[in-house]
Amino acid sequence: MALFSSRASIPSSPAASAQNPRSALRPLSAVFRSQIRAFSASPAARHGHVDPPKPGEGLKVTFIDKDGVSIPLEVNEGDNLLDIAQAHDVEMEGACGGSCACSTCHVIVADQEFYDQMPEPDDDENDMLDLAFGLTDTSRLGCQVVMKKELDGLVVKLPSMTRNMQASDFK
Ligand code: FES
Repeated sequence: MALFSSRASIPSSPAASAQNPRSALRPLSAVFRSQIRAFSASPAARHGHVDPPKPGEGLKVTFIDKDGVSIPLEVNEGDNLLDIAQAHDVEMEGACGGSCACSTCHVIVADQEFYDQMPEPDDDENDMLDLAFGLTDTSRLGCQVVMKKELDGLVVKLPSMTRNMQASDFK
């Protein structure tokens, strides 16, 4: 029988397993037990948490909120815009937690030159951007924009509203 490995015993006869059908499964469970591994977990998610940069070493990024208020921040290289926004109480929802499965972290890059410094959005990001309210030529998903030296001085605007297609799709 293909399901049994060489380490599992096969019932002596069909009649034996017919009398006690579970007896045919016991050898398999023994095999699985021998392969049980210790539980492990990946490091705790740190969404919305960013460490402050050392004085003078931060990269500058400015959010312009829905009311036109500028929120200048200093951040570390490697931080993404969603985590930065959430850590500083900038109003960015991030409904999917940064897994590129919604459009509630939509930002509009104010300067084309900075937009051009960013890696091209991948297919998943483009699919979500297509669902974003107020899409522009320089729209990005905040969770996918990672700060780097070339983006020092970046300015992003938050759209006047966001649309969470995940939730509204099922209403
Ligand atoms: S938080 Fe959902 S796509 Fe960015």
